[in-house]
Amino acid sequence: MGSGIAQKMATEGFAVTLVDLDDEKVARGLTTIERTLSDGVERKIFRADDVGAIRGRIAGTSRFEDLSDVDLVVEAVFEDLEVKKDVFRRLDQVCRADAVLATNTSSYSVTDLAASTTRPERVIGLHYFFHPAKNRLVEVVAGKATDSQLLRDAWRLQEALGKTPIASSDSYGFIVNRFFLPWLTEAVRILEEGAANTATIDEAAKRTFGIGMGPFELMNVTGVPIALHAATTLGRAFGPLYEAPALLRAQVESGQPWPLTGTVNHDPLLVIGERLAAAACYVAAALVDENVGTIDDTDIGARVGLRWRRGPFELMNHLGLDRAAALVKTFADRWRVDMPRTLAERARDARPFKFTLVRSDVANGVATLTINRPDALNALNEEVVSQFEEAFANAASDPTVKGIAIAGSGKAFVAGADIRFFVRNIEAKNLDRILAFTERGQALMRAIETCPKPVVARIHGLALGGGVELALACHAIVATPKASLAFPETGIGIYPGLGGTQRTTRRIGTGLTKWLVFTGQTIGAEEALAIGLIDRVVPYENLDAAVEEMIARKPGTDRRPRSAPDTHQLLATYFDRHDPEALWNGSATLPEDQRLIKAVSRVSAKAPIALRLAGELIDRGASLPIEEGLRLELAHVQEIFATKDAYEGLSTLGKRTPVFKGQ
Ligand code: COA
Repeated sequence: MGSGIAQKMATEGFAVTLVDLDDEKVARGLTTIERTLSDGVERKIFRADDVGAIRGRIAGTSRFEDLSDVDLVVEAVFEDLEVKKDVFRRLDQVCRADAVLATNTSSYSVTDLAASTTRPERVIGLHYFFHPAKNRLVEVVAGKATDSQLLRDAWRLQEALGKTPIASSDSYGFIVNRFFLPWLTEAVRILEEGAANTATIDEAAKRTFGIGMGPFELMNVTGVPIALHAATTLGRAFGPLYEAPALLRAQVESGQPWPLTGTVNHDPLLVIGERLAAAACYVAAALVDENVGTIDDTDIGARVGLRWRRGPFELMNHLGLDRAAALVKTFADRWRVDMPRTLAERARDARPFKFTLVRSDVANGVATLTINRPDALNALNEEVVSQFEEAFANAASDPTVKGIAIAGSGKAFVAGADIRFFVRNIEAKNLDRILAFTERGQALMRAIETCPKPVVARIHGLALGGGVELALACHAIVATPKASLAFPETGIGIYPGLGGTQRTTRRIGTGLTKWLVFTGQTIGAEEALAIGLIDRVVPYENLDAAVEEMIARKPGTDRRPRSAPDTHQLLATYFDRHDPEALWNGSATLPEDQRLIKAVSRVSAKAPIALRLAGELIDRGASLPIEEGLRLELAHVQEIFATKDAYEGLSTLGKRTPVFKGQ
């Protein structure tokens, strides 16, 4: 875990020191990082140059004294309380008084560890998941004495690292392990009872939770003893329901992985799936009763950390609350524990669980509205739009709010409109609903644009399609150097319908708008600033202050398109002069300019009908009042979503290259 955390921090630009007990162990950690990075180059996740720079940011040492000037330490020694306490005592002695000491413990209390230091207010839990450079989830845990500003900073740091933080109270196992362990041990108990073999139980789990590996295969990969250790710790804290079944102990004693052979028996799949669901759902609801986590964070934890298709609460909604309550009741009765209130009340009132997809936090007179669907990169769907409308109206009418910031949670700003929503409705032949969604999205963006209070987009990561359109409706856009922006629509068979063909031209003119929309080219923050698409780029640590400053300046909505900078003149004039069809079929003559040649070659992979409509909308809308331009965009929504190319493009979900036929 330690080397993975160090690797991730260095990848995201931080200088890191990897510490271990002796030089040999340090060297082993560095070799592990080296191997993972080289692997990343082979798999085209990193470029060789990047890897050199990442390695250059990582030092190794076995001397604690080398940590005298660091800002943050993340302790990730093996799970032994006394060893961990000793590490904290030593860190407390050598580190600067203002340094933050974090623990990656999965099973001990942050407060207990903090007690072995003289600075409990600067101790925090940061619980990463394997592999920490790949798994985005991190549980951020405050101990009893943790300073509240430190908690906010630690949260922001995770965001800067591209992580998805969830907040857990300082309770053993935090959120995810607490419901995951009983899920694993329930699987072992089913095996112990002789009700099914490992293959059948794994298959039931895969189907119910939409996962790639069932509990037994997963334990074999992550280590069966780790499951036993976690169950032992949780069992000690919370009683028999969490304890390890005898068969799990026996398996660890045998030193063997679980045997995964045997054929799948299809008869009990449903019952087994429901038993596993009951275990996870019982604990999830109990966690909310105990204020360990919220329903949102519990589900995000399951989806991002464990890659479950649905978190426990969404699963309960999906099963139907009556059915979910009956299953959980059977589980609770078996363990002689109470039915969790959180579930019992919802089931009694037949009120499905509701998720907070837009958070609203007011600080220093600024209301920050954060889209909270990090597992889907904050893609906009009907529920997000509905909650956004409400949160925005509240902020706009709140006399204590001077301005509004719009942000995304996790690693992205907003990765566009929800493609799955589009696919579902095309399949259901329900294009009216797509039109209604687009109309409502446009109205929301118009409300943002015409809001008398300043509204600023805060882009710290990826902004695609509807995400860029949302930002363009704001009065100003501030981004970090890591932000990236693109209009991928014509590459998935559609055109930008939430103002992208209209507001973009009002900022950067028709030529560069066509370049971006026809090519789907991703641009970084600096380039976006250079062409005038955004207003400011600041380092991550200054982002919130910059948003406040922009709000204080009261940016206006009146914009004249900026002319393209010298670096982009050729792109702008070329794309403005050629109609998309000529760009698409390669009939336009090309000057000898490598960037232009590359840009035009990208157009040939796009959907021709989408290109044609986008081109027309950009040209026709440029001289119209914005409302009329937006109406034009709406006028072709059903037409474009009815094409075969739209269905082809959208159903790839960004995971394979679509083949367009111009139909
Ligand atoms: N709509 C719905 N779901 C989306 C989404 C969107 N616009 N963008 C991302 N997601 C989902 C992904 O499907 C994935 O879900 P899964 O875990 O159930 O498979 C999840 O968000 C995480 O995305 P992932 O692809 O794992 O992240 P990544 O960093 O590897 O890749 C993208 C990110 C943006 C390149 C890729 O997700 C993508 O191409 N998305 C579509 C973007 C788009 O075309 N937007 C315009 C829509 S009009």
